[in-house]
Amino acid sequence: MGTPSDYAVQKITDYGRSRWFTRDERSWRVAQIPRTLVNFHTHNLLETGHGPEVDVVFLRNVLIYFDDASKLQAVRHVAGRMARGAWLFLGGSETLPPGFGDFRPIRPQIFQKVA
Ligand SMILES: C[S@@+](CC[C@H](N)C(=O)[O-])C[C@H]1O[C@@H](n2cnc3c(N)ncnc32)[C@H](O)[C@@H]1O
Repeated sequence: MGTPSDYAVQKITDYGRSRWFTRDERSWRVAQIPRTLVNFHTHNLLETGHGPEVDVVFLRNVLIYFDDASKLQAVRHVAGRMARGAWLFLGGSETLPPGFGDFRPIRPQIFQKVA
């Protein structure tokens, strides 16, 4: 493994890579079947979103670029789209805004929506 794409899948088991990914000479791609299970769309976190509630959010290494007010706004918007019991994953150096009560901490950077 030596490409940035290899780095992205380095913690996935050989079985997981063979089952859920395809590889060409330059990069790994998520295979067809898991792609059909996921809806992909763009969303500005600083704007209210629309659509069905989601069960998991990977918001890694995004909040660190926001000031406190924007961080609070973004987390409110994300929380508003999440089902009760849904999971939120932040990046290694990220935290929720102080006093934000919609989530309970499960592990560092992993939260579950409770409200
Ligand atoms: C450092 S990258 C992290 C990408 C990825 N989550 C990861 O961990 O590799 C920061 C990401 O935040 C996104 N971003 C910045 N401002 C945003 C906004 N207002 N709404 C949605 N995404 C935003 C950028 O497009 C970029 O993809």
